[in-house]
Amino acid sequence: MNPDQTVILVTGSTDGLGREVARRLAADGAHVIVHGRNRERGEALVAEIHATGRGSARFYAADLGSIAEVRAFARTIIQDYDHLNVLVNNAGIWLNRSPERQLSADGHELHFAVNYLAGYALTRLLLPLLTESAPARIVNVASTAQTPIDFDDPMLERGYTGGRAYAQSKLAQILFTVDLAGELEGQDVIVTALHPATLMETTMVREAGVPARSTVDEGADAVMQLVTAQGIESGSYYRGLEPARANAQAYDENARAALRRLSETLTGVPSR
Ligand SMILES: NC(=O)c1ccc[n+]([C@@H]2O[C@H](COP(=O)([O-])OP(=O)(O)OC[C@H]3O[C@@H](n4cnc5c(N)ncnc54)[C@H](OP(=O)(O)O)[C@@H]3O)[C@@H](O)[C@H]2O)c1
Repeated sequence: MNPDQTVILVTGSTDGLGREVARRLAADGAHVIVHGRNRERGEALVAEIHATGRGSARFYAADLGSIAEVRAFARTIIQDYDHLNVLVNNAGIWLNRSPERQLSADGHELHFAVNYLAGYALTRLLLPLLTESAPARIVNVASTAQTPIDFDDPMLERGYTGGRAYAQSKLAQILFTVDLAGELEGQDVIVTALHPATLMETTMVREAGVPARSTVDEGADAVMQLVTAQGIESGSYYRGLEPARANAQAYDENARAALRRLSETLTGVPSR
C-alpha cells in the first residue's frame, strides 16, 4: 500500500454488506483491511480488488467469538499499520432458526459476543491508532431490531430467542456509539451507528429463512454515507440514509454506564 492511502478496516467483509462496502471503498482508492473467518472468500475479495487496479486490500482471519482472537487481531493491525482512518464494525450473526442458546469461546451468549462485545473490544484496542490518525470515523452497523438489555440477565439464560438475542446485541452497539461519541468529543473522531436496510439479500437473511426485502446496494449506500459524507454528527443513529431515534435505552445514561461495566467485566478490556 501507499503510505498516504486511507486505511479502512471493515469487519465481516468476506460476505454480504461488508464485502460490498469493501469493494466500494477500494474503488475510491482506499486500502481495505478485509476481515472474516473464511480465508477463501477473503482472499478472493483481495484478488478481485487488486485486479481492478483501484485501491488495495489485505485479508486477516479472526473469529470474533473469541476475545483472545479479537486481542490478537488488534495487536496484528497495530503492528502492520501506522494509521487507521476508519473502523466499520459490520460483522454479525442472526441465528434466527436455532432455538438453542449458543455460547462463545468465552462462555458469553453468542450474538452478544460476536455482534457487540467483539466490536467493543476491537474498537477500544484500536482507539489509540484511530485517534492518532484523526480525522477518523467509527461506524457501527447495528439494526432497527432493538430490544433493551436486561442487565439482570444479559446472557439471556431465561427467555432466550434468537430474535431477542440479536436485537439486544444490536441495541448494545448503539449504546456504545452514544457513549463513545461523548468520550471522544473534540478529538475529530466521528462515531455513528446505523440500520443499513431492512432484510437485504445476504447469507444472514437467507439462513434466517425470511424473504429479502432490500438489496445489498441500498445498505452499502447507507454505510458509505456514514464513512464519507460531511455533516454527520458524532453519536447519531441512522436508519438507512436518514438520521433517526434509536430505542430509548440508548439515551439512558445509567444504562450506558451499566453496559460499560458489563463490557469491561466480560472482555477484560477497560472502557476508558
Ligand atoms: N442483512 C440485513 O438485512 C441486515 C439488516 C440490518 C442489519 N444488518 C447487519 O449488517 C451486518 C452485515 O450483515 P450481512 O447481512 O451482510 O451478513 P452476512 O452476509 O451473513 O455476512 C456476515 C459477515 O460477518 C462475518 N462473521 C460472522 N460471524 C463472525 C465471527 N464469529 N467472526 C468473524 N467474522 C464473522 C462473516 O464472515 P465469515 O463468513 O468469513 O465468517 C461475514 O463476512 C450485520 O452486523 C447485521 O446485523 C443486516
